[in-house]
Amino acid sequence: MSKGDPKTTQLPDGIDSILFDGTAIENRVRDLAKSISEDWGSEGLAIVCVLTGSLVFTADLARKFPLQVEIDCLRMESYGNQSIAISDPRFSAPLKNNIEGKSVLLVDDILDTGRTLSSLISYLNRQNPSSIRTCVLLDKPARREVDIEADFVGFTIPDKFVVGYGLDYAERFRALPYIATVDLSKIQ
Ligand code: IMP
Ligand code: MG
Repeated sequence: MSKGDPKTTQLPDGIDSILFDGTAIENRVRDLAKSISEDWGSEGLAIVCVLTGSLVFTADLARKFPLQVEIDCLRMESYGNQSIAISDPRFSAPLKNNIEGKSVLLVDDILDTGRTLSSLISYLNRQNPSSIRTCVLLDKPARREVDIEADFVGFTIPDKFVVGYGLDYAERFRALPYIATVDLSKIQ
């Protein structure tokens, strides 16, 4: 039985269809860790995990690196539907560690309009790391509003709302072991 296999998993109410099952995710995360470590060379790796959406992804990715890694987390405050780029993001949980002079891998769940990632990069740059590279589990290029691409992408997906493997809809579905589309009309 493969993990998160649609044929062996009963789908919760509101889940429409599975885009990537647990096995597909595990394979892709292993490949991503390999590409990132090849690109990284001998520099130390300081992972910055953006809570809460990239918690599951970061935990799996970090454990597949052959190198020693540092892991820190930050949590940005929610900005709702604000339609301008956030030049000075605020954090309900800022970084604990000093990233000055370090090679940072910023890990987020999904690159959508691009506002979150670009404001996070500006914020981290002000702390003088030696470099910042970005890794996102999912990329929805159709929705981009800011001119930004991630250095490493797990999967490119169409313009659909997805949940699972850390991603939520109103704090639900984060612990699903697969990535699925939701049918918002079936969610109370
Ligand atoms: P951006 O600033 O529009 O790129 O926002 C990215 C953030 O929006 C992600 O980190 C998620 O928290 C959230 N988001 C965007 N699309 C989805 C989705 O399909 N499912 C769950 N969260 C999403
Ligand atoms: Mg997020």
